[in-house]
Amino acid sequence: MKKGARRPAASPVAVLILAAGRGQRMKSGRVKLLHVLAGAPMVCHVARVAARLTPAALAAVVGNQADEVTAALSKQPGLIDAGLEFVTQERQLGTGHAVLQAEPLRARAGLKKAVLLILNGDVPLIRLSTLRALLKHHRRSGAAATVLTTRVDDPSGYGRVVRDEQGDLLSIVEDKDAGAAQKKIHEINAGLYCAEMSVVFDALRRTRRANAQGEHYLPDLFPILRKRGLRVEAYRHEEAEEVLGVNDRSELARASRILYRRRAEDLMASGVTILDPECTYIDPDVQVGQDTVIGPLARLEGATAIGAGCSIGALAHIAGSTLGDGVLVRDMCVITDSKVAGGAQIGPFAHLRPGTVLETGVHIGNFVEVKKSRVGRGSKANHLAYLGDADIGEGCNVGAGTITCNYDGVHKHPTRLEDGVFIGSDTQLVAPVTVGRGAYVGAGSTITKDVPAGALALSRVQQRTIEGWAERRRQERQERLERERGKA
Ligand code: UD1
Ligand code: CA
Repeated sequence: MKKGARRPAASPVAVLILAAGRGQRMKSGRVKLLHVLAGAPMVCHVARVAARLTPAALAAVVGNQADEVTAALSKQPGLIDAGLEFVTQERQLGTGHAVLQAEPLRARAGLKKAVLLILNGDVPLIRLSTLRALLKHHRRSGAAATVLTTRVDDPSGYGRVVRDEQGDLLSIVEDKDAGAAQKKIHEINAGLYCAEMSVVFDALRRTRRANAQGEHYLPDLFPILRKRGLRVEAYRHEEAEEVLGVNDRSELARASRILYRRRAEDLMASGVTILDPECTYIDPDVQVGQDTVIGPLARLEGATAIGAGCSIGALAHIAGSTLGDGVLVRDMCVITDSKVAGGAQIGPFAHLRPGTVLETGVHIGNFVEVKKSRVGRGSKANHLAYLGDADIGEGCNVGAGTITCNYDGVHKHPTRLEDGVFIGSDTQLVAPVTVGRGAYVGAGSTITKDVPAGALALSRVQQRTIEGWAERRRQERQERLERERGKA
């Protein structure tokens, strides 16, 4: 390139995700692409990787359960912002027909010379780097269309890649249409393609349904373009595992494990200890700080962020929650949509339900359930309690067996414990109720009225003690037994 000359800008990319199919092999009432792995429906993994290319257009072809597929994709963070749009394929007449539905893209300003990157919706393991490599190969070779291929030990079910003696791509033959010799080919079509916007639609209009499935096959694009004297390319990707489609529940489980494994590897590389990476379920978006230790069978889901130096016990299930630094989550806790500040200690067997906020250094112990409540700095509820719709100040002690009676059968009511309150064990706080700053509630009380600051509230029945009662009872029983024996 001459000095000062500018590199021609790369042609824009428009992405099209094929998501209208049914997926018979899942044996499900739900379309295949909605089956969830590592926290998101299959098709969403593909769309999110595609969005990271910041394409000039991003579209999904929907048909079967179109409303559900559209909703699932729209809910994914960032996809609507990335410009995701939907194209409907009313009848599912094959992958070629699916692409044709997106023809209006071609007329759009700026897309006439675009590369159309076409992705099957069932390749959830696809990496951004692989899509970039495919695009690069396509542009460098000057091909009209490029297909990504890979070699597999068992090619059954896949389209086989047929090449000529020079190794050039001739065609792709579907498994159901393949003859004995073609069935022996181990190079398969991964269902990821690049095609020039300017030629792809005209070529696809020429596909015929004279095949085993009676469908318009997208891969028929390649021989059609060749016949027109245009160059077509097969770009081989070495790592088959990453580009394989998920067609049944066994492949779903395998792909799921791979996604979890990937996140675990990334986290370990960034300084997180994972006791057993094969038995840990961490969604791709979960963040974990340095020197945190994650126990076996932990499930960390959704937009969860865990600080540094935390300990997450075995079987902990944390979803949509934020934990500060140095938080100790003992074994078998469930934490959902909650915020936990640094230094808190939780569990074992604690349940933090949505809307829980624990401030610094709070202790929530075994068999304590907290819902939509704030627990202030340094407060403790260590055993067997239910705290719902409560606002608990700093330095409070909530005794074992305390229950906020927040529900009257119709409405939920708040409980307020001001700073430094002491609630004796086995207390019921019948909401709405407030216990003032520094007040005490005696064990076993049912508190129905507000307790002023600094007071002691007690509502239990006065204790009665009957001296010698047990001895008298023993004697009575003895006498009765002797009388009965005498009669016999
Ligand atoms: C397809 C390829 C095959 C390749 C394999 C890779 C065709 C004809 N065959 O086969 O060569 O080896 O993928 O996994 O393309 N879809 C629609 N509308 C339709 C039909 C399908 O949107 O009318 C979507 C599906 O939702 C899916 C994708 O297209 O996301 C591929 O369809 P699928 O039925 O899985 O194709 P395969 O038989 O696996
Ligand atoms: Ca498939």
